Amino acid sequence: MITGASSGIGGALAVELAKRGASLGLVARRAETLSEIARTIEAAGGRALVLPADVRDADSLRAAAERLRSEIGPVDVLIANAGIGPTRDASELDAAEVSDVININVVGASNSVAAVVPQMVARGQGHLVIISSLAAYRGLPRSAAYCASKAAVSAFFESLRLDLEPKGIAVTIIHPGFIKTPLTAGREAQMPFLMELDDAVQKIVRAIEKQKKSYAFPWQLATIVRAGMIMPIWMYDRISRKNSFRE
Ligand SMILES: NC(=O)c1ccc[n+]([C@@H]2O[C@H](COP(=O)([O-])OP(=O)(O)OC[C@H]3O[C@@H](n4cnc5c(N)ncnc54)[C@H](OP(=O)(O)O)[C@@H]3O)[C@@H](O)[C@H]2O)c1
Repeated sequence: MITGASSGIGGALAVELAKRGASLGLVARRAETLSEIARTIEAAGGRALVLPADVRDADSLRAAAERLRSEIGPVDVLIANAGIGPTRDASELDAAEVSDVININVVGASNSVAAVVPQMVARGQGHLVIISSLAAYRGLPRSAAYCASKAAVSAFFESLRLDLEPKGIAVTIIHPGFIKTPLTAGREAQMPFLMELDDAVQKIVRAIEKQKKSYAFPWQLATIVRAGMIMPIWMYDRISRKNSFRE
């Protein structure tokens, strides 16, 4: 079951996982776009069920997971990928927008887990994957809500790992850098080590198949971000302000 499967990383992951033999439940709000992805998967001999739902609505996610279970079978892997990432300078902070980012990126991921985890616990197996971001590690300019949401999901899934691994459920936290998708399209600021979607999807699939606990990529940007975590604040602020990734 993949959330945010109508576009970008989620759509490309769905197509790639189908090629590798997975049957998929595709969750997002745009039913028609999901149907196009499902048609691509089915034309290649795969199986996909379109499950239109808003991740902010816990009931409709539970219903989607239930339909998936009854039509295809138990959910082996959840990829909580749905997310938004608006650019906003803090001097123009928009409380409603912050609320949307937190509700979709954090509460939406939690709703997705809640829709599948009781059955995973009952079966003593399963795999939860969150598409977080390198933006989870420290605050970045013009991204307060996004950074907060990604820091929150990374910590949330780390806690899940501690509780659920002993019950047979693997947890993988993916921290991607910049990938060419509709989310980053149209940004004018320079995005270092910007990746092609297909390359990024191959890396994500490998990390999922290996059930890595945490995976940050590309390594160049992940190394810079890790260096940022141990920098003194004055140095971090100076470098971050000079290298804003958002215009
Ligand atoms: N692209 C990057 O550089 C990058 C880097 C690091 C992390 N990420 C993360 O990767 C994930 C996917 O991003 P992307 O780049 O593929 O973006 P994208 O192309 O804009 O796709 C976002 C997906 O999320 C879905 N979504 C948004 N709000 C939703 C809601 N309320 N309910 C259900 N689905 C919802 C969208 O579907 P509908 O509009 O049809 O609902 C869409 O399928 C996000 O979590 C993002 O933060 C991206």
